[in-house]
Amino acid sequence: MKIRSAAYLSSAATALLLVGCGPAAMISTTPLALGGWSKDEAEVIAAFPVRRNAQILDAARERRIADIVAGMTLEQKIGQMAQPSILSITPDEVRQFYIGSVLNGGGGWPQGKKHATAQDWAKLADSYAKASLATDLAVKIPLIWGTDAVHGHNNVVGATTFPHNIGLGAANDPELMQRIGRATARQVRATGINWAFAPTLAVVQNQRWGRSYEGYSSDPTIVASLGGAMVHGLQGNLTGDGDVLASGKHFAGDGGTFQGVDQGENRASLTDYVAIHGAGYYSALDAQAATVMISYNSWARGGTQPHGKMHGNRALITGVLKGRLAFDGLVVSDWNAIEQIPGCERDHCPQAVNAGIDLFMVPENWKTFITQTALDVREGRIPMARIDDAVTRILRVKLRMGLFERPTSAGRYTGDSTALVERELAQEAVRKSAVLLKNNGVLPLSGKKRILVVGAGADSFARQSGGWSLTWQGDETDNKDYPVGETLLGGLRRVYGAANVSYSLDGVGTDPRGYDAVVAVIGETPYAEMKGDVRFPAPLSHSARFPEDRALLDRFAGKGVPVVTVLYSGRTTYATDLLNRSDAFVAGFLPGTEAGAIADLLGGRANLDFSARLSFAWPNTACPTGGEPVAEALLPRGFGLSYRVPFLTGRLTEQAPIASCP
Ligand code: GLC
Repeated sequence: MKIRSAAYLSSAATALLLVGCGPAAMISTTPLALGGWSKDEAEVIAAFPVRRNAQILDAARERRIADIVAGMTLEQKIGQMAQPSILSITPDEVRQFYIGSVLNGGGGWPQGKKHATAQDWAKLADSYAKASLATDLAVKIPLIWGTDAVHGHNNVVGATTFPHNIGLGAANDPELMQRIGRATARQVRATGINWAFAPTLAVVQNQRWGRSYEGYSSDPTIVASLGGAMVHGLQGNLTGDGDVLASGKHFAGDGGTFQGVDQGENRASLTDYVAIHGAGYYSALDAQAATVMISYNSWARGGTQPHGKMHGNRALITGVLKGRLAFDGLVVSDWNAIEQIPGCERDHCPQAVNAGIDLFMVPENWKTFITQTALDVREGRIPMARIDDAVTRILRVKLRMGLFERPTSAGRYTGDSTALVERELAQEAVRKSAVLLKNNGVLPLSGKKRILVVGAGADSFARQSGGWSLTWQGDETDNKDYPVGETLLGGLRRVYGAANVSYSLDGVGTDPRGYDAVVAVIGETPYAEMKGDVRFPAPLSHSARFPEDRALLDRFAGKGVPVVTVLYSGRTTYATDLLNRSDAFVAGFLPGTEAGAIADLLGGRANLDFSARLSFAWPNTACPTGGEPVAEALLPRGFGLSYRVPFLTGRLTEQAPIASCP
């Protein structure tokens, strides 16, 4: 017998209840239906359309879950709700404390070894899995391991990485996105891991944000389309050797904070909060995303009615996500995020438990989290029903993925380092995500013989990969850390022959005459999260932030040899001065390990052509005043050139350099 999830029924009931009517028979007894919402909260909840495609719960599975939960002690239940970092827990502690999940953060490698192999990762995963099966629980509960595989399995040396989402948004190809998801799942499984903290469903409204590149677009329809496809790709049918759990993140509004401040305040109106920042979750949940990660940001409705930090927001997590959107999987917190709730610590936050979070990313202080939370329950600050709901959801996810039948990390791809390599797919993704912004006839470079390559991005895996690449920030690496892949310099040497391609990092003292073209590969240095914010009033101008790139183009522009500029960046940014100093200009965004594939586009190999279209507007000012669509757009969202449609760009009006935005 199949029953609709209690959450769904009670959400419909809650919705009807909230509007003052509803058949009593529909009222469910889950905590949800008890409501207790303020008028403002009730309005917010009712503003989210009820999601119509809630999963049907399997009655037999639900009975099995209830039996397991009934046989667990409080400490065993809370052990399931804790997610330590692998750097702060041993397998035997997983056994001792009944831990249900671990994670590795960016740059968190097994035994702290950057060059840990797939086998090393898989060995550690196996030891954690076996430890979780060695507890004295009446019914053993296998462990799940989460990792930020956000553009391929980017923590692992030798793994192919794909373009970051800002480029994949420009490709805007859901079928390609799903294939990337499948490949990423295989890569993750090769290391014995079974959960990817992806896709990011941020609908990024301000390019000052350091995580802009993790978002597909400022357009919620593109985010919904690609986010859903990525969930399908990662999860497959959840139970196969090449399937992993997905995480829609970060719920909700991470991409819309004021001035793009990471973990800041989203001031969207209720209408925009639902339509823009909620959009990705409907499609991710329709794709049956098994987990959702909560966001660091806060929300102040319309900028005036504070709803506080997301991690403490019961109306949005329980009332909206679990109610109106009928999400019946598990909700996970972000890294130590609960400490940002007033009155909370990183290891103690009954407000976040009561808000509806089920699994707590407490990387280091997991022991005190368990003891403090157990005390909260014993002293009545957290109802046992909430703990049981959390553990029920965690078990539901583990049962849905077949983990009880296959509790160890063993599988077809486990330990197989060849499963980490997906070069052709990544090359296809690179070709489909680079956007041609200007071409005054110099491209394609077919028939050219002598190419001079300059710029810090030309031969740098770090610059072409961006953040979340081997390390959290994508820094502290060099080309030796990337045994698989191709830089753009390598690609140009492949296309034109090494003897015909010269390279000079800064081009100083290099005379361009005698060359058919100069290819200048410039770009941002890598960053992640708040370290990538361009905080107001700093100008959002590439030249202001990287003056060496402007100096490079000044050195070669107008010297009688055409200049083709390729910009690596995690955002769209003021670059009119650079466009004026280029005869052709490509927004490469962050292409990942196969950036060399851009050379095939530049050379027009096999009649390849540009097809990507900007998924964010390109600003005409270093001081944009609003979100998207950028009123001050130089190039609108949807812009992108190709060889098929000639398009001459005249000299653009440049802003005078500015040190600080007004
Ligand atoms: C980070 C990020 C989140 C990531 C988590 C684990 O702070 O906000 O996206 O999944 O921590 O690394």
